Amino acid sequence: MRFLVSAGPTREHIDPVRFLSNRSTGRMGFAVAAAAAAAGHTVTLVTGPVALETPPGGIRRVDVISARDMLAALQEHLPETDVLVMTAAVADWRPRHTAGAKLKKAAMNPVIELEPNPDILATLAQAKAGRTFVGFAAETGDPLPEARRKLIAKGLDLIVANDVSRSDSGFAVDTNRVTLIGADGTFAPLPLLTKHEVACEIVKWCETRRGTQT
Ligand code: PMT
Repeated sequence: MRFLVSAGPTREHIDPVRFLSNRSTGRMGFAVAAAAAAAGHTVTLVTGPVALETPPGGIRRVDVISARDMLAALQEHLPETDVLVMTAAVADWRPRHTAGAKLKKAAMNPVIELEPNPDILATLAQAKAGRTFVGFAAETGDPLPEARRKLIAKGLDLIVANDVSRSDSGFAVDTNRVTLIGADGTFAPLPLLTKHEVACEIVKWCETRRGTQT
């Protein structure tokens, strides 16, 4: 199968040296890419700015900065994709204006006006056809209600519900505690696992769903 995986944060620039972003390190997405490649699948990995080496296995890597860059890269590679896995922590908002040169402190407005970024999954859903779409839901507190809402709102086959308020789960750690919720009725709360183990569970679910191993 052909996997398209997004990873990491996006950066939304205020000026060339300042940006809005989040704590994603890319570890969860790189683990999914590595697990899919190790299982013999073809993998394209679209990643925001992270400090990680590309995992082995012939993974094609595309580096992007902003949410709009990520959307464009995913749209380019979607036609040659069977399974999309969106682990990226995409910034929902960007500054309305990006300065071309570093802003002087004295000249900066203390209020930054924002405008919404595109919802990448919802946009790609328009071209979904027979593809399998997997999203993540990062929530502080019980992630299940929001995960169920996002599963439907974003037209997903599977959502990985992630309580990111725990110190051993979510952003910038090597472990994750997630629940897999599928549009097909899948409900699988997983114990605390390494991100590699979580990634293997996601790849296995996709293989079963599509009825193929490679
Ligand atoms: O990178 P790590 O440090 O390993 O951390 C992993 C992680 C915590 C980032 C990852 O496990 C995770 O939970 N990723 C999803 C983060 C997120 O943005 O969740 P969300 O609930 O805001 O978004 C729901 C889904 O919509 C996600 O699949 C997201 O990729 C997607 N999305 C979000 C916003 C947007 N504008 N477009 C999108 O497609």
